[in-house]
Amino acid sequence: KKVVLAYSGGLDTSIILKWLETEYGAEVVTFTADLGQGEELEPAREKALRMGIKPENIFIDDLREEFVRDFVFPMFRANALYEGQYLLGTSIARPLIAKRQIEIARMVGADAVCHGATGKGNDQVRFELGYYALEPDIRVIAPWREWDFKSREALLDFAEKHQIPIAKDKRGEAPFSVDANLLHSSSEGKVLEDPAVEAPEFVYQRTIAPEDAPDQATVITIGFERGDAVSIDGEALSPATVLARLNDLGRDNGIGRLDLVEGRFVGMKSRGIYETPGGTILLAAHRGIESITLDRGAMHLKDELAVRYAQMIYNGFWFAPEREMLQAAIDKSQEQVSGTVRVKLYKGNATVIGRESPLSLYDQDLVTFEEGVQAYDHRDAAGFIKLNALRLRVLERRNRRTGGA
Ligand code: ARG
Ligand code: SIN
Repeated sequence: KKVVLAYSGGLDTSIILKWLETEYGAEVVTFTADLGQGEELEPAREKALRMGIKPENIFIDDLREEFVRDFVFPMFRANALYEGQYLLGTSIARPLIAKRQIEIARMVGADAVCHGATGKGNDQVRFELGYYALEPDIRVIAPWREWDFKSREALLDFAEKHQIPIAKDKRGEAPFSVDANLLHSSSEGKVLEDPAVEAPEFVYQRTIAPEDAPDQATVITIGFERGDAVSIDGEALSPATVLARLNDLGRDNGIGRLDLVEGRFVGMKSRGIYETPGGTILLAAHRGIESITLDRGAMHLKDELAVRYAQMIYNGFWFAPEREMLQAAIDKSQEQVSGTVRVKLYKGNATVIGRESPLSLYDQDLVTFEEGVQAYDHRDAAGFIKLNALRLRVLERRNRRTGGA
């Protein structure tokens, strides 16, 4: 029995690794991905080696460019927000991890995959929908739903028994749970569980507080091609580099903090602290370039679809036909979404202050209140309004006849 484990090198996935060997009698293949979480990957290799994993069973992949190019950017073309606010930083990373895990399972001839998400959250759903969509007969092992450690203590005793090193501060409970990648950091649980209580400042790890941000605004120009950011201040950058730069700029200006109570797919509400510095700037800028290059009908339809699209990603249906259908429509809408946007970064805000494009639909002659071109005849407006008012007039006449019953 061979199983591919999504392995961070941390305490929890190290315990899972041992548990797979002792309880399942499985040969473990570890997979560690760099999604821009800002941690070195080599320590994960050393830890896996020290845990007795064979070198050929250790996979370490830098997925940063693929993550931003094939997952984050397609999602940002939609301006997707879950429940109006969440930029889906964790949700969008799970399908890529699942995909790579399945690829490795095929390569090494493993019949099972394993993840470290709990049995109460969204992530288990996202990982496993991804696995099954790509490999219908794969065996899925979710230790948090299966093992019978009754407490954190029991878990740590198991770790100790198997000589898994426990950092000194880990004997006590971690203050909250973190997930991070190039798009965002999320913190949940423990000290954050009471939604009435403000999150302590130490929870924030990749942005300074808006109150501490410089008094001087920073203005940047972001270039877009077909809905994707391709440059900053005229410098062409790869997808992951654009996002990394925007993250730095966002961090320094206190941009992208969010304190949210959200509805999990499995039913309960949960409270999370999110930091999405670059993503928050990108969303504002993308809306800016769309505002001059996208037709109103296309934009409004897209905005309606984006609500559904965000739910699909949140609920883990990235590899589902309905998500791919919406993606095709969204990508089609972006064909002319190219140009540049000037954004002012100032104390927690990313504000669009200028937009420009050779493909612009904005027509100053048409919109001006000064005497403009003849494409627009003021007198046409009277009939336009009259016909649109017809229904409303008929309705009000009936109201008066019937007393508004
Ligand atoms: N609630 C977020 C989501 O479902 C983040 C989940 C993972 N975060 C964590 N701190 N463990 O996408
Ligand atoms: C987890 O339960 O493992 C993290 C939170 C979530 O998936 O919603």
